[in-house]
Amino acid sequence: MVEKNSSPVLKIYIYFIFITGLSIFVYILLKYRDISLIGMALFGALAFMADNLSSPLPRTGSVAVNFEISFASLILFGPSTAILVTAFSIFNIKEFVKKVPHYKHLFNAGQYLISIGAASIVFENTYNRAVLNFFNPANIGFIFLAAYIGFFLNTLLTAEAISISENKNFINMWIYNYAWLIPFKLFLIVMTIAVTFLYKLYGLFTIIFTLLPLIIAQYAYMLRVKERKTLLNSIKQIVKIIDAKDPYTAGHSVRVAEYAEKIARKLRLNEFDVDILINIANLHDIGKVQIDLSILNKPGKYDDADWMEMKKHPEVGYEIVKEIVFLKNSANAILYHHEKIDGSGYPSGIEGDKIPLFAKILTVADAYDAMTSNRPYKTALTQKKAIKELERCSGKDFDKKISKIMIDIIKEENPSEC
Ligand SMILES: [Fe+2]
Repeated sequence: MVEKNSSPVLKIYIYFIFITGLSIFVYILLKYRDISLIGMALFGALAFMADNLSSPLPRTGSVAVNFEISFASLILFGPSTAILVTAFSIFNIKEFVKKVPHYKHLFNAGQYLISIGAASIVFENTYNRAVLNFFNPANIGFIFLAAYIGFFLNTLLTAEAISISENKNFINMWIYNYAWLIPFKLFLIVMTIAVTFLYKLYGLFTIIFTLLPLIIAQYAYMLRVKERKTLLNSIKQIVKIIDAKDPYTAGHSVRVAEYAEKIARKLRLNEFDVDILINIANLHDIGKVQIDLSILNKPGKYDDADWMEMKKHPEVGYEIVKEIVFLKNSANAILYHHEKIDGSGYPSGIEGDKIPLFAKILTVADAYDAMTSNRPYKTALTQKKAIKELERCSGKDFDKKISKIMIDIIKEENPSEC
């Protein structure tokens, strides 16, 4: 959960979640007395492992299979074992070491307990344990129902916390951060069913072939995310260096990335694409590292020779960014970010839909920032004039749909000035 402000509303919300979670925890332990000690110890240790080896996602939250582990223990041993297994997974050593604020622990504990608790209650009231056929369609259906209830509660409660903390629309927050996980969840439920079926059939050693590989896969994913984070930090440093090289465009790349993200959100691109686009946008002018300072900082208008030199930067940038493993498939957006819809751009003069979507987004975001920034040879346009310019060039320089989205964004953000 991202913590930007700790408003009283957020604190009340967090304490409410924690107390509700705790009440459900006590209720389940009192109502369902059967506890499997082996199940609790084994699945508890696995859930603890999974949570401690969890992977932070590009935006918010994390990927951890501890819900699936608790859920498998619910099917196998019942609600009390499952809620105790969940309680084990709450102790995240990394977060204690990092001294994460206590209310974050309370929130995580509360929402975990609510999610698995509610899933347990639904499961116990629908699933028929007397049916011997494990793959009885109704029972399988109830497994999916309970697991999805757990998933929705978990993600909705977290989205609400982020929306309060960042003052953003709750539904949008949920869609942006979690909707894409719905099909992935389907895969995890099928895995959980397989884990429990094999456990029932052949006993606890099957976990070595089912849950352990899942936790190891999750760990490998986390290492990849970490590696990526290190790389992204280096990218940010490089962007700062480029910006510092050309004082007139200071902050340009960062702003282009912000506009590109807003456009991508309006286009409802998935989280992974948004993440890639932000990085590509941050690096779109990286090719300028090769341009001579005397040209970059030239106070007057560029002559033909200067333009020749400037026009090389998309290709230079592309050559650099295509070497970054996770960006190489989208690096052509940098190559084509000065192409125009009517084919009059550079370096290739491609037109229309031959220009990749990311490049079309970059072109509009880049142009809007250039229009509204002061440069040595021109003063910034007002929002109103920038809109006029976007309209005028729509279908010529810019993709019609993308420029319309950019105009909508400007109008939404500056209603009084447009
Ligand atoms: Fe550029």
